[in-house]
Formats: sequence, structure tokens, C-alpha cells
Amino acid sequence: MKDDNERYKYEQLALDLRRLIEAGTYHPGDRLPSLRAMSQQERVSMSTVMQAYYLLEAEGWIEAQSQSGFYVCDMLPRKLPEPEISNPAPDPTEVSVWDLTMMIMRDYADSDLMRLGIAAPNPAMTAAPRLNRLSASIGRKLEAENSRYKLLAGCDDLRIQIAQHAVRSGCHLSPADILITSGCQEAVSLSLRAVCGPGDIVAVESPCNFDILQCLEVLGLHALEIPMHPRDGISLDALRAAIGQQPVRACVAISNFSNPVGSCMPDENKQALVELLAERDIPLIEIDIFGEIYFGEQRPLVAKAFDRKGLVLLCSSFSKTLWPGGAVGWVVPGQFKTQVERLKYTSNIATPLVPQHALAEFMALGKYDPHLRRIRREYARCMTSLTQAVGRHFPPGIRLTRPEGGFLLWIQLPAPTDALSVYRHARESGIAIAPGSIFSVGGLYRDFIRLNAANWTPEMEGAVRRLGEIIAEEVGG
Ligand SMILES: Cc1ncc(COP(=O)(O)O)c(C=O)c1O
Repeated sequence: MKDDNERYKYEQLALDLRRLIEAGTYHPGDRLPSLRAMSQQERVSMSTVMQAYYLLEAEGWIEAQSQSGFYVCDMLPRKLPEPEISNPAPDPTEVSVWDLTMMIMRDYADSDLMRLGIAAPNPAMTAAPRLNRLSASIGRKLEAENSRYKLLAGCDDLRIQIAQHAVRSGCHLSPADILITSGCQEAVSLSLRAVCGPGDIVAVESPCNFDILQCLEVLGLHALEIPMHPRDGISLDALRAAIGQQPVRACVAISNFSNPVGSCMPDENKQALVELLAERDIPLIEIDIFGEIYFGEQRPLVAKAFDRKGLVLLCSSFSKTLWPGGAVGWVVPGQFKTQVERLKYTSNIATPLVPQHALAEFMALGKYDPHLRRIRREYARCMTSLTQAVGRHFPPGIRLTRPEGGFLLWIQLPAPTDALSVYRHARESGIAIAPGSIFSVGGLYRDFIRLNAANWTPEMEGAVRRLGEIIAEEVGG
């Protein structure tokens, strides 16, 4: 949190207004003073007031009504309770969520559905058109190089850009520390194979993204589900107890804006997590795929920033921010570099070159930061709008997370709702969601759903209303 003299004028004004709303000086439904009136009253420029109002809008405190001004929202942030800390069984479990995973992947391919299920970015908030054009021109330039085998580690220019960018997340890397992969999924899969073998126990967050559970399943690994806090991520006390009792071979965590919960581990927890695992030489596979999509003032660090023993394998990709179709990711494998390289070599020798060069050029042209600033603002707005729509249309008794980044909402439905039955009925109404049970191997989260806010438009209000009706019917039995 910045102190008063570090804030920009518009941030200070937004904070002052937020305090007035919280104190009840401005009530839900009240119209805020016009831009001109506020700028005269506060002795700041109209553009400062405008920026402050936009910030409050993105945070869900006020909303613009066309031709009329800014009004305090009816459903203010923080009114709905959060889910409680999760409580999985303390035993490792053989993984199998394949059928459910395939079911929601099929929904993603069905363009007739309102797709709120898969954690895909909004196509309009990727840089795909630009990157496709860059790929076409690079393809022509690289004709000779592209007709030979590619280098295992990936394109040097891209690794340089990734290393430069990583400084903001607390990592001082050389390009040689980075291995380019085909998306984050390959980075995670290679990392797991490098540090574990069939039958080993892997500690995972609970709830856990099903892509990770799929990897564990095909590798014959056992998942040990560790409780997590809706805001702070994996419980360090629970993890300490678990590794004291079970021969845990690795831990997988999404440190920033986890999927599905949206939690972001405080930086001190990341340090404590790295130190806790390092005491027993347990590798941490850290996924930072949403880390750039933060709504706050600063980019959260990665746990890798605290890694002194090379035990953290940091995995990420450009899939959520720039280009899911490019399927370019990377791993910083630390002390497991040789094993990861060998596994990469045996799976596909190297990642296709053209998309890597396109990304490197995009970043070298200085396009990445402005793009990130835009999508952070947009996704913050989408999350607020979806949260408010859920607040308006879902029946009483729900709980939901308040992520400070990413674009996923994790919602607990009132007992005794069966989220799979909600999923089926929603699908009949043309709406795809992700039912909670897909995020656990122990049969948990049957009363949860995950919604993707990335594609929010006001037209989606009707879909959220319909979901609310379906849930209300389920609750009513
Ligand atoms: C935690 C996590 N890991 C991996 C992936 C897949 O990433 P990619 O598309 O870059 O392979 C996702 C996508 O949703 C994810 O959320």
C-alpha cells in the first residue's frame, strides 16, 4: 500500500471518495458530483477527476450511466462473503478427472454456447492479429532457418525479452536460465517429469486447476490436496503438517491469481513457502500464468524470486496475455535444467520458431507493456461487472472470491446445490460453466462453480440471470 505522498492525485481522490462511500456519506444509488463540480470542489483538473472515477468504476464502487453521470453502485464490493479456507482430506489420492475435463473442453469448441467455463482470455484482449501479421513476415524472413531443425532452448531474442521482463517479478535471470516450451502446460508437464516418478506424491492447492490434475493423472502421480485460503493461497501450516507426515516429492502452486480461486500469495508467504520446501529439498513447480494480469499498484513477485537453491521450476506462458494460439511458454528449471532439457528434446526437440520470433519482435517494439496496461484495466472492469451481476441475480447464501487479478471467479452456491446438475441445466440453456468437482480428485467442491469474466459484455447479464434462476431452482429442490 502506497502512503499518502506516494499516490498520484487521482489515486488519492479515488481513495477519499471510496472512504466517503464506505462511511455512508454517499449511498448506493447516489449520483456523484459532475466532473466540473468535483474538479472545482477538490481543486484538481477534470482529467484527474475522470481518472479517479474510472478507477472507482473499475473497482466496482461506482458506475457510469450514459448522459447522466457516475452513480454509487447498488451492490458494493465486499458485501458478499468469501468461501472459507478449503478442507481437503489429508490423504494422497489417485487422480481421475478426465471425463469431466473433456466435457468442458468440448463446450469450449461449441460456439453456440455462452462460454463461461474455460479459462481462456477474451480474443479481443489478445494481440493475436498483430502477432499473426508479424508471423507472416517473419516466416518469409526465416525461410532458411525454418527449414532446419530448431535449437532446443528456443529463440535467443525471446529469451532475452523474457529475462528482461522477469526483473519486475523479482527474478534476475540470464537468457540461458530459460527454456522455451509449447505453452505453460508443457512447462508443467516437463517439470513434473523431471522431479517425480510414477507413484510419487505431489502436494497441490485445493481446489486445483484441472490441467495440473490431468498431468498428475497421466504421469501416475498421487495428488495430496492442501487447503488454501481464498485470498492468500496455499496454507503454509497445512503444507508443513503434510510434508511432515507424507513423503511429498514436489509441490505445485499457482502463486499469483490461482486458477480457479484467484488467490494471490502475499510475497512473504512466497518466501516462507520456498524456505519451507527448501528445508527438505522438495522442488516447487510454480505457475505464474496470470501474474501479469494484476489490478493493484504493483506486479506481485514470484516465489522463484526467493529461490536460493535452484529448487523452484517457474512455469509460464503468453497464453492468457497475448496469444493462446501461439502456444509459447517457458520454464526456468533451476537445478533441474539438464533433466528438463532432455525431456523437452525427447518430446518434440524444440518449440516452433516463428511464433517465438513474432513474440520477441512484439516485445522489442515496446508493445507488451501498453498491451498489459490495457488488458489489466479491462479485465478489472469485467471482474467487477460479473461480480455485480452475480450479486444481483444469484440467490442469497452464495459466497465468492474477490481476486485482485486474472479473470476467474470462484463461487460457492448455497447448500445443498449440486453444481454438476447446475452445469447440465445451464448447458441446456446455452451457458457453459465449470463445475467445482473438476478441481478436486477427492470429490470436493460439488457446490462450487468457476466463471470466466474475460468476455464480459452487458449482454451477458441475461445469462447470469438465467444461471441465478437455475441455482435458485436447485436450492429449492
Ligand atoms: C494453471 C494453468 N496451467 C496451465 C494452463 C495452460 O496453459 P497453456 O495454454 O499456456 O499451455 C492453464 C490455462 O488455463 C492454467 O490455468
